[in-house]
Amino acid sequence: MASFEWRVHNPGGCRRVIVTKELPGQRWQDILTAADCRVEICTAEDILPAVAIQEAMAPGCDAAIGQLTEPWDEDMFKALKAAGGAAYSNYAVGFNNVDVTGATRQGIPVGNTPGVLTETTAQMAVTLTFAAARRTGEAERFLRAGRYAGWLPSLLMGELLWRKTVGVIGAGRIGDAYARMMVEGHKMNVIYYDIYPNERLEAYVAAYGDFLQHQGQEQVTCTRAATVEELLEAADCVSIHTILDESTRHLINAERLARMKPNAVIVNTSRGPVIDEAALVAHCQRHPAFRAGLDVFENEPELAPGLDQLDNVVIVPHIASATRWTREGMATLAAANVAGLLRGYPVWNRPDILPFLEGELPTVAPSILNAAELGLAMAD
Ligand code: DGY
Repeated sequence: MASFEWRVHNPGGCRRVIVTKELPGQRWQDILTAADCRVEICTAEDILPAVAIQEAMAPGCDAAIGQLTEPWDEDMFKALKAAGGAAYSNYAVGFNNVDVTGATRQGIPVGNTPGVLTETTAQMAVTLTFAAARRTGEAERFLRAGRYAGWLPSLLMGELLWRKTVGVIGAGRIGDAYARMMVEGHKMNVIYYDIYPNERLEAYVAAYGDFLQHQGQEQVTCTRAATVEELLEAADCVSIHTILDESTRHLINAERLARMKPNAVIVNTSRGPVIDEAALVAHCQRHPAFRAGLDVFENEPELAPGLDQLDNVVIVPHIASATRWTREGMATLAAANVAGLLRGYPVWNRPDILPFLEGELPTVAPSILNAAELGLAMAD
């Protein structure tokens, strides 16, 4: 097996923490140093196989910070426990790579990094929506290929997303932020699908609609769809913000794509397997006016055959959360999760994570997914 280089930060620390990738910023390292941790960071960019992580933990490990590209299944948590570990944090808000139930069985708390990705990811979803609707990838390729011979009335015409209908699948924090951006920026009506109603979003759009009316403009509306199909049929663009689990795998399949308008846009910044990628390729091949904007893929880093040949698809390599502020914030939260757990702090019970990002660190672990199952104390 290939061997991987590990860099040691704070070699004198008493608690050993494994971090499977270099993370941006300094604050996360300072947090772990203050918690008396010796931090061992894998400097390789390769995706680490499970066995390499288990080997790194084996000599004794108090906690680990892992990546969404690694399978943190129950065997990994058994290995962490056997090494003396008591805490894990994913460096991600999503945790489909983590067997949280298995971790709970092993008594290991699992952290994630919500809150800091919200606007950053929503902005990328907006970016992909308009890149797809206005054909910017195709237009740039056209220009770079030296094919631009002068302005033409019908050159590269796209779709105007203004006062139309935006569909949001999964109206949690990121879906909610995306919906607001599309409502405020482009006066779109919202239709959303979520197992829970988002009353705050509905109230916000209603109040914004009243404001527009006072300005002598048309109202905007927000409706909760009863089914995914209802949303797909109504929307001019659809953005996916759901989690990935067995209920959402291939939520968007050939039948559902066929329900969409022929010139609609679909955007995915959640997890690739929510869309049946082969079905999407076939749909885009058959419907050149249909467009897609994708940040995530079913079998990352591989793309479904034919996807990268399609002019009506805009693709970026899972960078929706890639702003410095967000990625440093994620590192801070992951470190604060692990340090807080090792120090025996209670678990933060509030959605506002900004207090962790600057100044004195609150004496709590910011986001622990299985806190209730493990009976961890919650902060007041
Ligand atoms: C996450 O945190 O789940 C994101 O996918 C990272 O970009």
